[in-house]
Amino acid sequence: MTAHLSACDIIFFGALGDLTQRKLLPALYQLERAKLIHKDTRILCVARNTDQDKGIGQTRQSLTKYVNESLMSTEILEAFIERIHFLSVNFDELDSYQPLKEILDASSNKERVFYYATSASLYGTISANLNEQGCLNAQSRVVLEKPIGFSLETSHQVNSEVGKYFDESQIYRIDHYLGKETVQNLIALRFANNLFGTQWNQNHISHVEITVAEKVGIEGRWGYFDKAGQLRDMVQNHLLQLLCLVAMDPPADLSADSIRDEKVKVLKSLRPIKSEEMGHHVVRGQYTSGYINDQRVPGYLEEEGANTSSQTETFVSIRVELGSWRWAGVPFYLRTGKRMAEKSSQIVVHFKQQPHYIFDPEQRQLANNKLIIKLQPDEGIALHILTKDQGLEKGMQLRKAPLQLSFSQAFGIDRVPDAYERLLLEVIKGQQYLFVRRDEIEHAWKWCDALLNQWQKQNSPPLPYPAGSWGPANSDLLLANDGRVWYENQ
Ligand code: BG6
Repeated sequence: MTAHLSACDIIFFGALGDLTQRKLLPALYQLERAKLIHKDTRILCVARNTDQDKGIGQTRQSLTKYVNESLMSTEILEAFIERIHFLSVNFDELDSYQPLKEILDASSNKERVFYYATSASLYGTISANLNEQGCLNAQSRVVLEKPIGFSLETSHQVNSEVGKYFDESQIYRIDHYLGKETVQNLIALRFANNLFGTQWNQNHISHVEITVAEKVGIEGRWGYFDKAGQLRDMVQNHLLQLLCLVAMDPPADLSADSIRDEKVKVLKSLRPIKSEEMGHHVVRGQYTSGYINDQRVPGYLEEEGANTSSQTETFVSIRVELGSWRWAGVPFYLRTGKRMAEKSSQIVVHFKQQPHYIFDPEQRQLANNKLIIKLQPDEGIALHILTKDQGLEKGMQLRKAPLQLSFSQAFGIDRVPDAYERLLLEVIKGQQYLFVRRDEIEHAWKWCDALLNQWQKQNSPPLPYPAGSWGPANSDLLLANDGRVWYENQ
């Protein structure tokens, strides 16, 4: 398996930060375990004010904490630690890149993966300093973490600064949802199954729900989150990416650009929401205190470090329309929030009723066919169909029944790989199809900026919802106005 993976240097900026320690290094450890890292690959961990002993000490602790004990082996751990070199660099001080330059020079033609796990405001400076110090070679790639900017303008700025030193083919913009197995499976499900291929349009589908609900609150990230809010944090990236994968036309092939071209078409077709539609097509909420797993949790304004007059939203639901033949008249209801009743990411595709109905009209209200794609947890697919109820006395009485596919049961999988394992592997291989192209990010921002501007003009506070609920009651109205209800209320 390692044969086609060449040796490379992976350089993490912000190596002692939460993302690198909690996600990236544990993900690489899993690749080590799976023998997917070349024996000569090195991991260079760059951070301010650090040294090898301090850095390795912290990394050992993090690996013990974040890698499941049953997957930890001393032999693999020691082989993995051997690859890691900590270097102290002040990101905005050119001279301090010298030790990095020296260590990179020792293998000048190796592929280099620069992973910026820092604030996006540093992406330009780091790129310029790497370039100036001669740390970039023709084989260099750069991985950019979200959020890339806070608006179209700022994202444009960051992309342009990085773009001075890296060609688009060298840039890997992360949306970790694209690394989730079940999200990738959307492509297989849609384009490998004729059953869905022919039915996937406004002739057969009435509406689609995309929900990404979390039980967690803001997890001590007040400083970041309060500036961002749920629209920027979750919709601009994860939900719009899911929408693209559900709504896009079949790509010409599986190449990165063919897939991304189709996604861009979806983003361009997003209908802007007019000011007079804001009241009934968009709901903003903010959690108040409530109960999660029977434990009382504080409201958003009571979280540590909170500005008690914040109007930042922790919940959004939006009725989205796409201007395309395939989706004319088919609303996509997007919903995402913190401190919700369940942790659940799922897509529910509701099919239209049969045009010619021969059964008892009283049974017409029985639900139509639904395809439920469960992204996390309990990854799987269910197709809700109608069958005849069993029993002599039932006559032609219909009843709903699901055809279920649970990935863990069907494929005997005991562990779903973390999204970052897949994404790091693809960067090492130089495959860009799970990464977001610049025009995708910018079209997504354009649409979100328009919404943010409307909110700013309206200047009305978000609607309160108790932690542990499904958001403000108005979110139910979003569907009720169309004579529908959210899947969990059916
Ligand atoms: C991140 C957001 O991108 O995604 C977080 O910044 C959010 O606020 C997280 O909690 C959710 O990811 P997952 O993989 O746990 O669904």
